[in-house]
Amino acid sequence: MTLGPVDQKKKNAADHAVSLITNGMKVGLGTGSTAKFAVEALGRRIKAEGLKVKGVPTSEATRKLALEQGVPLLSFEEADRLDLCIDGADEADAGLNLTKGGGGALLREKVVAFVSERFYCVVDDAKLVDKLHAFPLPLEVVPFAEKVVARELVRLGGQPMLRTRDGAPYLTDNGLWILDCRFPPIDDPPMLARALSSIPGIAEHGLFCGLTHALVVGTDQGVKVIER
Ligand code: 5RP
Repeated sequence: MTLGPVDQKKKNAADHAVSLITNGMKVGLGTGSTAKFAVEALGRRIKAEGLKVKGVPTSEATRKLALEQGVPLLSFEEADRLDLCIDGADEADAGLNLTKGGGGALLREKVVAFVSERFYCVVDDAKLVDKLHAFPLPLEVVPFAEKVVARELVRLGGQPMLRTRDGAPYLTDNGLWILDCRFPPIDDPPMLARALSSIPGIAEHGLFCGLTHALVVGTDQGVKVIER
């Protein structure tokens, strides 16, 4: 099947990151269309080379995909330390700060990235931005606290919107809700991340600061790796 240009860039980035996996690694498996290319590439390597790895999925969707692709899995409880995590992002800035959570899996994605020795974020070049802001920032919230959290986000200059599906609140794999919050261009992502972490009722927010070791960027010319 021929891929469109954006998907081809996502696949190039994913294939490159997966080429760095070696025997015996425990690998965090991200969520979303770019991470899907990575899980498929890993499945191909396992079949073709007999690569011995164990994956830890960041969502139920990725768990299902990994099993279909023949990737052996560990539950998160069995893997408190991972060698590598490969996951996508919705936006990335030059400081390797990320916006994540478009696919609603940000909480597990952040935990898995946090316990990984190395986190390679795979994106197509359209996601590289000067300042994070065009993609509304997803926050996973406890339903009970949604109104309080929304009010505090407005105080911080945001415009939150409850994510819905089929007319009802979108439910994450953790049984929580998502607020997608527009902010003006984010000058200082770590400072906003700290402010968000101090609001009770936010289970996790989609700003990933200081977690990415390398951005693997798919471009028309091939793959560019931006290391921290
Ligand atoms: C899921 C995510 C994804 O990594 C992000 O939404 C990017 O997805 P895609 O690769 O489909 O553009 O954070 O929660």
